[in-house]
Amino acid sequence: MPEFHKIARVDELAPGEVKQYQVEDRPVALCSVDGELYAFEDICTHQFAYLSEGEFKGHQIKCPLHGAKFDVRSGKALSLPAVKPVPVHTVKVEDGNVYVALNPKRVKVVSRRGGRR
Ligand code: FES
Repeated sequence: MPEFHKIARVDELAPGEVKQYQVEDRPVALCSVDGELYAFEDICTHQFAYLSEGEFKGHQIKCPLHGAKFDVRSGKALSLPAVKPVPVHTVKVEDGNVYVALNPKRVKVVSRRGGRR
């Protein structure tokens, strides 16, 4: 049974907006598209960058560092230089609150020098 964490109120996010939250020391991006909420690990799978700081259009978010695009619904990498998907988290809404259950998969953080942290 996944553990859900309350992270926000539904009305904190405008349609087409993405914000970062910290859940158990992990950066989680929460976004709203067409009335649906999606959450994913807020770290690019190419190198270290917060995806929530990138351009967000439709169901796609673009990494601010080298421009890889990801589908926020599946986490799938849609363009190079990223090839690995970003882990997506389970979202539920109850009584106007947004809850997230973390995906046990994590992005292996690669620093800009190429080492792993
Ligand atoms: S760090 Fe995201 S595309 Fe390079």
